[in-house]
Amino acid sequence: MNPIKLSYYVGRNFKYSGKVIGRSFLNECKSWRSKANDLRCDRALGISTVGGSEAVGLIGTEGDGIKYLGQDYASLEVMVSHLQMNAHDVFLDLGCGKGRVICRVGQEVIKKAIGVELRNELVEIAKRNALLLKGRQSEVEVVRGDACDYDFTEVTVVFMYEPFGWKTLRRVLARIEESLITNPRSLRVLFSRTDRFGVVLDMCDWLTPVGPIGQTGIWEWRTEDI
Ligand SMILES: C[S@@+](CC[C@H](N)C(=O)[O-])C[C@H]1O[C@@H](n2cnc3c(N)ncnc32)[C@H](O)[C@@H]1O
Repeated sequence: MNPIKLSYYVGRNFKYSGKVIGRSFLNECKSWRSKANDLRCDRALGISTVGGSEAVGLIGTEGDGIKYLGQDYASLEVMVSHLQMNAHDVFLDLGCGKGRVICRVGQEVIKKAIGVELRNELVEIAKRNALLLKGRQSEVEVVRGDACDYDFTEVTVVFMYEPFGWKTLRRVLARIEESLITNPRSLRVLFSRTDRFGVVLDMCDWLTPVGPIGQTGIWEWRTEDI
């Protein structure tokens, strides 16, 4: 090959690889910084939620349950201050894992924070965390069960951090809609990581999309105000 062409291709390859390596290095740094912040926040709350779960395989009635990973605390802070909940609110985390979200929300003055989780080992951890929580302002309850079977009648805020696929999500949304007939009320639905399943929520004509909550990756939908 012509030496001028060769040096051009080698140079271009170096530039491209440099960009890729630089980008993945930056992403790695971001992920470590976020993990360090999660550990610090866990300590402040007196709980332990960092780390994934050992469980493999999908779970749930529809077999599309995703494994445990906690919503980062930085996004949780933004979400909690955005929600401005009050003493009438019942907050529900569907697929609560180790209970990080309900513990943080339990530091607000609301009626109740509830977590529903299907994996036994995670239910035990979440219950222990709920007991250990420092600065509690509200009752924090952990329920073992499948999200598809939950009775949503009293709930005013539903949070999901991509816990399952569209089949379970569709069933859950149908049950939430039914609960609005039994008990008409204002309700907010929050979904984190909407890239794959946000469209399922967009298809609910009883919900109005509100949009993203800052840069958190959490999106909000709500019913008409009552
Ligand atoms: C991505 S994690 C989110 C954990 C928690 N919401 C948080 O942000 O800290 C999803 C959780 O949903 C649970 N899950 C999956 N399918 C479920 C179902 N059908 N019913 C209840 N929990 C489920 C999983 O076991 C897992 O712990």
